[in-house]
Amino acid sequence: MTTTPTAAPRPPQLAPPGLEGVAVAETEIGDVRGEEGFFHYRGYNAAELASLLSFEQVWHLLIEGELPDPQQLARFREHTSELRSVPEGIAPLLSQIAAGSEFVPLNALRTAVSLAADRLGLRPVLDIGPEEVREQALRMTALAPVLLMGLYRAHQGKPTVEPDPDLGYAAAYLQMLTGQRPLPAHARALEQYLILTMDHGFNASTFTARVITSTGADMGSALVGAIGALSGPLHGGAPSRALQTLDEIGSADRAYDYLRQKVEAGDRLMGFGHRVYKTDDPRSTLLRQVALEMGGEQAQFAQHVEQTALRVLNELKPGRRLYTNVEFYAGVVMNTAGIPREMFTPTFASSRTVGWTAAICEQAAHNRLIRPSAVYVGPTPPVPLPDGYTYG
Ligand code: ACO
Repeated sequence: MTTTPTAAPRPPQLAPPGLEGVAVAETEIGDVRGEEGFFHYRGYNAAELASLLSFEQVWHLLIEGELPDPQQLARFREHTSELRSVPEGIAPLLSQIAAGSEFVPLNALRTAVSLAADRLGLRPVLDIGPEEVREQALRMTALAPVLLMGLYRAHQGKPTVEPDPDLGYAAAYLQMLTGQRPLPAHARALEQYLILTMDHGFNASTFTARVITSTGADMGSALVGAIGALSGPLHGGAPSRALQTLDEIGSADRAYDYLRQKVEAGDRLMGFGHRVYKTDDPRSTLLRQVALEMGGEQAQFAQHVEQTALRVLNELKPGRRLYTNVEFYAGVVMNTAGIPREMFTPTFASSRTVGWTAAICEQAAHNRLIRPSAVYVGPTPPVPLPDGYTYG
């Protein structure tokens, strides 16, 4: 009798550090093509969407899977505006979260999202259907800026400003911050920034949201995890750092020497270079235009600094393919629109909630538990316990 030898189990393949270049899922939400300087939402050029459409139109596209017709858009606007109310019992807790000198708006938002999800009774996605998951996605996205502005104002000892139901997401964002209806140009500039940052491929926070969703957990847990991932400086970055550079340079005549000294000292110029984009970042191209259209000295100065920085990088780092990234003009746009610096990353979190919730809906609809393996590299097992080692 012949026996077939049993194949030894194949050791797991080790993916490159950081999973760079590894595809771990299929998605219909969008993609980033770094070499081409292009990214899209459901196939549509994202920069074109940002320059032509409203936040609500693109939000509808990402969550519902298609651009809305005028009737759908009117219903979507009305519905999402109604979803901005703070859940029962949360308002007094916001001021408690926001109290104290250690207030970090993004961390406070993470806590408030957790509380709100609990109060709203968001059930595990495993136990609910796609309609309910989608409705929760809209609810949490509509709520995020309301919580954020409530926290920010509470920290300043100011009363909460109810969102004006007649205003769209972007204008209401500014109105809840200041209590005033914003200038249409400011609301529109912010709206373009928000659309540009709704989604960006399979980034770390989106992946985090998918991993948590894949366990069947509730949407609140996935969003809290995503915000946590975004809070890391390597991901959420710091659009305020590019603005700080402008402050430190101070005047146009100092730009070249300042930037050259920085690079010669081995420092990175904030707002330049990107892991994926090896040509112009399409977000920076549009935000430059938006910043210049808003007017003001800062935008002109930023453009001068940008050109000088590119010249310096070309001289000192030739061939590295370093271009302006999203952060350089994001700070100028948000600053000109009246958003305080400490709210830059939380503003990014607000718009990215659209992408996170779209990813959560997609993961829940086509779920398989995400459970990779690791290659064990420790001492060869089984390691015997040391002689005489007993319960203690
Ligand atoms: N200023 C000066 N030199 C730079 C910069 C920069 N901003 N970015 C990269 N370089 C240089 C590096 O020093 C390196 O030079 P070397 O070959 O002499 O060693 C070369 O370019 C390649 O650098 P890497 O680290 O391999 O580039 P990587 O793709 O890993 O880095 C990153 C991307 C982290 C964004 C980097 O460009 C950087 O630190 N930029 C500044 C910070 C910044 O703007 N962050 C926001 C990014 S946008 C976003 O993530 C949302």
